[in-house]
Amino acid sequence: MSNNNMKIRKCLFPAAGYGTRFLPATKAIPKEMLPVLTKPLLQYGVEEAISAEIDTMAIVTGRGKRAIEDHFDISYELEHQIKDTAKEHYLTEIRKVINNCTFSYTRQIKMKGLGHAIACGETLIGNEPFAVILADDLCDNDGDSVLSQMIKLFEKYKCSIVAVEEIPPEHSNRYGVIAGDTIEDNVIRVTDMVEKPEPKDAPSNLAIIGRYILTPDIFDIIKDTKAGRGGEIQITDALLTQAKKGGVIAYKFKGKRFDCGSVDGFVEATNYFYNKQK
Ligand code: G1P
Repeated sequence: MSNNNMKIRKCLFPAAGYGTRFLPATKAIPKEMLPVLTKPLLQYGVEEAISAEIDTMAIVTGRGKRAIEDHFDISYELEHQIKDTAKEHYLTEIRKVINNCTFSYTRQIKMKGLGHAIACGETLIGNEPFAVILADDLCDNDGDSVLSQMIKLFEKYKCSIVAVEEIPPEHSNRYGVIAGDTIEDNVIRVTDMVEKPEPKDAPSNLAIIGRYILTPDIFDIIKDTKAGRGGEIQITDALLTQAKKGGVIAYKFKGKRFDCGSVDGFVEATNYFYNKQK
């Protein structure tokens, strides 16, 4: 029996993709480890999860991604060299992350799509509702983080939630796009969702960004979901099955979001965070 009354304790990070758009940088370095200023994208994601009181990080990796595990671990040599020097503060943030949560890992052996990557995380998540962060969507807020906002909503609706934002219609083929009925300010009960539709087929201009809360029945649904767009098993298609039973809401979040999966978005994020810390 799934228990949707439970607090969200775990966050899944699909991190197995090739990062093709950042080659050659991503040939030997996972794209999730590319830094915006001095911090890897994945660490921003983990910090967002911690801000939402999540303490268990479940990471789906793939071949060539070992740097991720090393990053969220102690480097004794470095600690030894830097301890009690003027440079020690450079380690403050990552130490805080390591001390405040646990990390577990599993590998996606074959790249069969985001839905499949999420299904690979079942062994780490088990039978409870959980969050998903796609680290290349980098979010920033002055108040509650996007995930914190979504968790508050989960406490009320107890169903799967996708974060959405308005996009220019010509960008619809980059995203999952939803349609539905507004049930309160910024909250929509989803009735339809399509993965990367051409603008003429898009059901609205509301695109899913890389933040999800999923109820655990999604795992069985994914197993029954056939390959869709691009021949891959899509989380959007699995969520449509839940949506048809009234089990998915979309939330227009407050805050900024950068598409760090694209060079333009990455540069924009870098400038934004650089100007913010000055
Ligand atoms: C994935 C999802 C898509 C979603 C997007 C958000 O696509 O399949 O529905 O809109 O993330 O970033 P990807 O960017 O991995 O191609």
